[in-house]
Amino acid sequence: MEDLRKEIRRCKAMTKNPVCFTPMVSLAPRSKLLTLLPKFGVNLTILPALVPPDYAAYARVIVEEGIRIVETAGNNPGPVIKTFKDANCIVLHKCTTIRHSLSAIKLGVDFLSIDGFECAGHVGESDITNFILLGRARQSLNGVPFIASGGFADGHGLAAALSLGAEGINMGTRFMCTVEAPIHLKVKQAIVDAQETDTELVLRRWHNTTRLFKNKVSKEAAKVEKESQSGRFEEVAPLMSGKRGREVFILGYIDFGVWTAGQVIGLIHDIPTCDDLVKRIEREAEETLSRTASLMIPRQRL
Ligand SMILES: Cc1cc2nc3c(=O)[nH]c(=O)nc-3n(C[C@H](O)[C@H](O)[C@H](O)COP(=O)(O)O)c2cc1C
Repeated sequence: MEDLRKEIRRCKAMTKNPVCFTPMVSLAPRSKLLTLLPKFGVNLTILPALVPPDYAAYARVIVEEGIRIVETAGNNPGPVIKTFKDANCIVLHKCTTIRHSLSAIKLGVDFLSIDGFECAGHVGESDITNFILLGRARQSLNGVPFIASGGFADGHGLAAALSLGAEGINMGTRFMCTVEAPIHLKVKQAIVDAQETDTELVLRRWHNTTRLFKNKVSKEAAKVEKESQSGRFEEVAPLMSGKRGREVFILGYIDFGVWTAGQVIGLIHDIPTCDDLVKRIEREAEETLSRTASLMIPRQRL
């Protein structure tokens, strides 16, 4: 708990600009709600764990530290969403199905982050990619705003997301491959060198499907999962060690453990600064939308 408090205070001290505690940023907000967002957000992800952390206490620390925008993600967010809404926070819930989006709306969230099957990390169990999922969100969320997450790296993607009805995009993997990302250069280079086929899905057997960078360890985990006679999670658990994954980021030994990446690795070819990246995405999206608009010929000129 105190680590979270320290981290929030550290970020507050570092910048007055928008900050989030997962590798995510939203671009191109166009709804009134999104333009009014406070500038500092925290993500709280609720995951299945052998010894579950005290999520209620995390939520209390977030509120106590004066954070006013929170992204929730994962299983059964109801109790923490209530804590945040009682404290007048703006709550964004990230999920991979329309069913879960509608439940989150009932719980009072302000907007959604719709995470397609392309995404890094927890892809859910429905395997619906964003072309369908975003369209369904537009059709089904009764006007509640949403941003698009999973598979975005450039302005073409942003333009597509806006066309499908999203208010903006959330990017995870793309921001790993920036100058500022606090991970080893060899990890960034591995992303640049990778193709869209270089991710591995694991943990489907335990209904916790996760997309990882394809390396020796994730391939081994997938093999153990497939071949295990007992189906006991303990057989795969040592390979899934988060501690070894963190070492990959620090030491740059790509095959030391498992680490998260999305299919969007196939679209990432450089390591820009965040500033350059965001400006480029905005420029590309404007060009793409203008080019698309120019395809329309007024009826009277036909
Ligand atoms: C290294 C890494 C760590 C992540 N950690 C979390 C997390 O703790 N909680 C969460 O909700 N999402 C997490 N995500 C997922 C992102 O917030 C986002 O949903 C996802 O990366 C979108 O897909 P993309 O990578 O194709 O942009 C993580 C993603 C990456 C790449």
